[in-house]
Amino acid sequence: MTIKNELIENEIENQLIISISNLHKIYDPGRANEVNVLRGVSLEMRKGDFFTLMGPSGCGKSTLLNIVGGLTKQNSGSVKINGVELDSLKDNALSELRNLHIGWVFQSFGLIDNLTALENVMIPLDLADVEDSVARLTAMELLKRVGLEDRADHFPDGLSGGQNQRVAIARALANDPEVILADEPTGNLDTSTGLEIIDLFKELAAQGKAILMVTHDVALAHAAQKVFILRNGVVAEEAKDPALNGIQKDKAEIETEKEM
Ligand SMILES: Nc1ncnc2c1ncn2[C@@H]1O[C@H](COP(=O)(O)OP(=O)(O)O)[C@@H](O)[C@H]1O
Ligand SMILES: [Mg+2]
Repeated sequence: MTIKNELIENEIENQLIISISNLHKIYDPGRANEVNVLRGVSLEMRKGDFFTLMGPSGCGKSTLLNIVGGLTKQNSGSVKINGVELDSLKDNALSELRNLHIGWVFQSFGLIDNLTALENVMIPLDLADVEDSVARLTAMELLKRVGLEDRADHFPDGLSGGQNQRVAIARALANDPEVILADEPTGNLDTSTGLEIIDLFKELAAQGKAILMVTHDVALAHAAQKVFILRNGVVAEEAKDPALNGIQKDKAEIETEKEM
């Protein structure tokens, strides 16, 4: 049985997509420069969850995302994606899981400059050995889904920041992963473009993705279903601010004002 089939079977049994339990991470343990970043983080996410993670600079947000995405190893504790313990996977299986089940979105987009939008979106499909003609069609569908079908042949430097981030999101969706991890995806965008990205994430969550997004922007964070704060190595859920829940209404009002 392939990992993908095994993961799908586990998923049917158990709708938990991400299960993080008592995670600890220490950089350079026992040395003078030891940093005790995560001290018992637990978090569960299901299909359709869109959660945001905030916290002071250097508190370990990227570290936590990198461990969940299989890029960094923890010192102790467990991370399961669709019921599969990441720590139990050999390198090949971990790479496969990363490419098929996790989509990444970064602050700096991470696109390849000399590839077109379409070719950038095709990368994860090529890595998964999808036939070129199928990959091309799939990538085009994904560009449509993020509203960029008319920009397929553009290179990153011919697109705006918001458009590049949409291309990056289309690329993250290429192999239809259950999980999207986004590390400050709106950090290089203005507020209204950032809001458009949040709207896109909300749509994707409604279609069943589990999305964990790190952000510094309080208003954007509170547009998600749940807001978590990482502080002193542990994660705690933050009460949602009702004043900030109106953010979508405010945006509509701003747009109406612009039209007037
Ligand atoms: N590879 C590494 N080696 C040693 N220390 C690291 C490494 N990566 C991050 N750190 C340290 O761990 C802490 C958390 O970093 P990070 O997860 O990037 O925080 P955040 O994303 O919240 O700003 C910081 O003090 C940082 O310097
Ligand atoms: Mg960071």
